[in-house]
Amino acid sequence: MDSHANPYRPGAGLQPPFFAGRESLLTDASVAMDRLLIGRSSKSFMLVGLRGVGKTALLQRYANLAEEAGMMSVVIEVAEGSDITKLLAARLYEVLLHMSARGMTSRIRNTLRFLQGFMLPANTNGYNEFVADSEMHTVATGDPSIDLLDIFLEVGEVARENKTTIFFAFDELHRLPALELGALIGAQHGAVQRSRPIFFVAAGLPQLPMLAAEARSYSERMFAVLPIGALSYQEMHHAVQIPAEAQGVRFEDDAVKEIYRVTQGFPYFVQEWAHGAWALADASLITIQNVAHASQAVLHRLSESFFQVRLDRLTDAEKRYLVAMGTLGDGAQSTRDIAHSLGKKSTALGSIRANLIRKGILYSPRSGEVAYTAPLFKEFLQCARSSLRILEA
Ligand SMILES: Nc1ncnc2c1ncn2[C@@H]1O[C@H](COP(=O)(O)OP(=O)(O)O)[C@@H](O)[C@H]1O
Ligand SMILES: [Mg+2]
Repeated sequence: MDSHANPYRPGAGLQPPFFAGRESLLTDASVAMDRLLIGRSSKSFMLVGLRGVGKTALLQRYANLAEEAGMMSVVIEVAEGSDITKLLAARLYEVLLHMSARGMTSRIRNTLRFLQGFMLPANTNGYNEFVADSEMHTVATGDPSIDLLDIFLEVGEVARENKTTIFFAFDELHRLPALELGALIGAQHGAVQRSRPIFFVAAGLPQLPMLAAEARSYSERMFAVLPIGALSYQEMHHAVQIPAEAQGVRFEDDAVKEIYRVTQGFPYFVQEWAHGAWALADASLITIQNVAHASQAVLHRLSESFFQVRLDRLTDAEKRYLVAMGTLGDGAQSTRDIAHSLGKKSTALGSIRANLIRKGILYSPRSGEVAYTAPLFKEFLQCARSSLRILEA
């Protein structure tokens, strides 16, 4: 079928053609935003889930809701090694500049200069240059726990004067090192305590709530943790069928069931399989055969992109650990059992385990257990095992 018309959108952060199954999460966010806009308080949200469940797509929806409600929105994706203070200041600078297009006040001009103080390049000591502004009495110290609070207080004040609220989204927040994560949570806490009109939503892998609690114990009270997972059959049915029907195309029932069987309702995989089946169909009815044929190509593509890139960053010892874990079955596995199947003591594998968690491959759902952060990773390892050449080593 015409590939130009293929509506499905597999890929990180891409908005799906039909956003299935997150109704209550969208309603909850709307309610929180409405409360903040009339001066009431709301907990921050923390979206947690495996890769490809739709956290980034949902964050973007939230940002759209915020803007429709008249809020300012700042979406930040944390990358390995990013300087969170600089990143935040630069994004806020853009947002305020945009806002000032409707009328530049001296207040906004001062705040723009204030933000510039945090955007300067780091000097050789790794700290921001000492920036003092006698008018604003502001100083970029290079200490994120001080600077981030200063930033939130200042822009929060501007928001309040303009009778609005700022929506902050921090995506991939588990990547932020403990020190900066603690500083960020502390600064949010400080700004909210001082009644700045600010709404925070964080998103990350399942280890995020634990990392946040380790960095600041009160984070458990600040955030409502919202688990994001696979779609139910009915929700997935909508995600697949509605975009097709909009173009006069239909998946036969067995085709939808087959997609559910192979994807287990994980949104990223659903997009991949629906996209693949559409490409192979030659009539306006997409059949189970189309889906089955698509599986070959899709699995191949997934191995190369989604999964293999994860393996490429690992040492052989780390790969061996993952394979050993995969042989034990589905879901979380005890670290003792994994060590046992490798003929080692659990304590001897501590640093391998820690590295796999740091690299975002595993997380620890409970003390003494680990699980993969990507759905279907075990299945992938089973297929790839022969080509990995890591077992004989
Ligand atoms: N609610 C949903 N319904 C259907 N597809 C979705 C939904 N949420 C996300 N997707 C699709 O899943 C894929 C992964 O989404 P993404 O937001 O990048 O996940 P994550 O940030 O959790 O890794 C994208 O292709 C996206 O279009
Ligand atoms: Mg994402």
